[in-house]
Amino acid sequence: MPVKVLMVCLGNICRSPLAEGILASKLPNNIFVVDSAGTGSWHVGHSPDKRSIAVATKNGINIQNQKGRQFQTSDFENFDYIYVMDNSNYRDVIHLAKTEEHKNKVHLILNELFPDENVDVPDPYFGVANGFDNVYQMLDEVTDIIAKKLIQKHS
Ligand code: 4NP
Repeated sequence: MPVKVLMVCLGNICRSPLAEGILASKLPNNIFVVDSAGTGSWHVGHSPDKRSIAVATKNGINIQNQKGRQFQTSDFENFDYIYVMDNSNYRDVIHLAKTEEHKNKVHLILNELFPDENVDVPDPYFGVANGFDNVYQMLDEVTDIIAKKLIQKHS
């Protein structure tokens, strides 16, 4: 059975597709499966935002074939680790969890880099032009730590 990791943001078109693509590029795909989802439903079936595709491509990661989907309660059963991008995603996902075991799967992603500081990956959707580069750098840094931990633990 592969170890399954889910990246979650609000729309599943900007941050979590990048987090999925970057982490997947750092893990052996015979042991790990990485997916992403949004807490909202606006972008179900959509490709990632053009700006996320562009920053990923610039860094050698292909996320063009991803399709948006909404987080669902069955994801608590199907995934071993659920990383959320911000505090509002954390509240939304925890609200749907019915057991402590499910709640314990949910982690605010940047707490892996800045333990207990509860820092958000800022939503770049309506933001400044370099927002996507900033998000990419943050996710690249934190997924180094996550990949190292997961590989140590599971392979
Ligand atoms: P994401 O960004 O959560 O990083 O995918 C967003 C994209 C779209 C919307 C919100 C956040 N939206 O409201 O449509």
